[in-house]
Amino acid sequence: MSTLFFKQFLKRPFQIASIVPSSKALVERVASKMDFSQPRVIAEYGPGEGVHSREIARRMCPDSNLLLFELDRAFARDLERQFAGDRRVHVIHGDAASLPHELKRNGIDSCDYILSGIPFSILKIEKKRALLQKTYDALAPGGGFIIYQVTNELKQHATHFERAKSEYFLQNIPPMFITVFQKTPPLDHHERRPLPGADFSFSAHRSA
Ligand SMILES: C[S@@+](CC[C@H](N)C(=O)[O-])C[C@H]1O[C@@H](n2cnc3c(N)ncnc32)[C@H](O)[C@@H]1O
Repeated sequence: MSTLFFKQFLKRPFQIASIVPSSKALVERVASKMDFSQPRVIAEYGPGEGVHSREIARRMCPDSNLLLFELDRAFARDLERQFAGDRRVHVIHGDAASLPHELKRNGIDSCDYILSGIPFSILKIEKKRALLQKTYDALAPGGGFIIYQVTNELKQHATHFERAKSEYFLQNIPPMFITVFQKTPPLDHHERRPLPGADFSFSAHRSA
């Protein structure tokens, strides 16, 4: 078990919301929902000690960008240390809600994927709705919002998204729902039509 993770959980149990990081099996399953065959812009909410971030960075190609939003200072510092030599990775010690501001600051138009490990179920309804709206707006057409949660309650709130596909993943303690919400591209935009299910196909969006 990670000492840092457990220590931070004891300090802020509601914010961290778990005593152990995601299992290797969950990390691999979540990563399998993303297509890394071309450069991507990926944002991650609540990376914690970076189990998913490391797998994403390992899989993504050189021109990709990974933005990590972590509220906890100790985790954010540790992530900065871990990714110090990787120019594709940007650690933001702050709220996931600052995503639009950070995209603008980095000259990025939109994200291909947004991954979230934050405890959405304990957020107040207004904050939850506002973050879902920002998430939807920040995704490129065809983009995917991927969450792993103990409950699947977010599904009833994430009505902005045109499609959602869930699975119950048992190889984690506790078991988790993995849900991929998809922002559908315009109907007349055939080139960017996403593939059915979890295998999305779309390209990165970056300002010149
Ligand atoms: C359940 S832990 C998940 C950690 C890691 N992603 C994993 O799978 O092991 C939730 C993380 O989300 C962070 N967090 C909670 N609310 C957040 C917010 N609004 N913005 C950014 N990070 C947040 C917590 O500090 C914590 O690191």
